[in-house]
Amino acid sequence: MKRVLFLGATSSIARALALCFARDGAALYLAARDADEAARVAADLNIRGAGLVRSGSFEATGYARHTELISHAARELGGLDGVALCFGTLGEHFNAARDAAYARDLVTENFTAAASILTEVANYLGIQRSGFIIVLGSVAGERGRAGNYVYGSAKGGLALFTQGLRAHMARSGVHIMTVKLGLVDTPMTYGRGRSLLAVSPTTAARGIYSAWRRRAEVVYVPWFWRPVMAVVRAIPERIFKYARF
Ligand SMILES: NC(=O)c1ccc[n+]([C@@H]2O[C@H](COP(=O)([O-])OP(=O)(O)OC[C@H]3O[C@@H](n4cnc5c(N)ncnc54)[C@H](OP(=O)(O)O)[C@@H]3O)[C@@H](O)[C@H]2O)c1
Repeated sequence: MKRVLFLGATSSIARALALCFARDGAALYLAARDADEAARVAADLNIRGAGLVRSGSFEATGYARHTELISHAARELGGLDGVALCFGTLGEHFNAARDAAYARDLVTENFTAAASILTEVANYLGIQRSGFIIVLGSVAGERGRAGNYVYGSAKGGLALFTQGLRAHMARSGVHIMTVKLGLVDTPMTYGRGRSLLAVSPTTAARGIYSAWRRRAEVVYVPWFWRPVMAVVRAIPERIFKYARF
């Protein structure tokens, strides 16, 4: 039975991913900014097969409480096998491109806070020399675009951080997986126009779970984003800089 801590557990993708783990009888600790909603998700997962579900509050930028949260989750679950980092904020790019404080907050929530708690998690799992870390990243982090470069740069930084952490932990017995998500139909993307490439949180979660089971290190979810991003990366900068998306 896997014992897994979810960070940002009220995210739609996190809920669907937690359900995949629950169906296999995992024990889960659901940590989220909205502790009441996390408790409701926990109750739901309990009746859907999870071995044990606990929940609690988590603010990604509340750095002083991160070490205690990891220890608390491990105590509640009787140990910790893995962590799924699921929090993130898309924000409004119009504001981020004009307001320095807004841009700073977006980068902090998507990168700085993630780098901070990943360091704590890696320390914890590194000492026990086993476990796994799943990091929800984005294809937005692959190339700076006019339409979302603040969020994209934070996700790009997170991908590099995770890649470096994987190298740092290569001999530690800890499996680290970077997920490069394409468009997923969640509250984060609600109202931003429909796309034929968007998938449901359930489809995304199944892709993530199956990649985790085969111990993938970097996975595009859904798979077709790998060739799509290969094309996007290949467009010369002098042309790409005029793209308005
Ligand atoms: N949806 C997409 O198309 C897409 C594409 C690529 C990558 N992703 C990534 O996938 C992950 C999950 O996103 P989602 O689509 O499931 O979106 P979502 O349903 O909006 O979930 C985002 C989650 O992040 C939490 N969060 C944001 N800031 C936080 C903070 N400072 N402290 C603690 N929790 C915080 C939110 O908590 P509250 O509910 O309290 O706000 C929410 O639970 C994110 O990392 C996102 O960047 C999503």
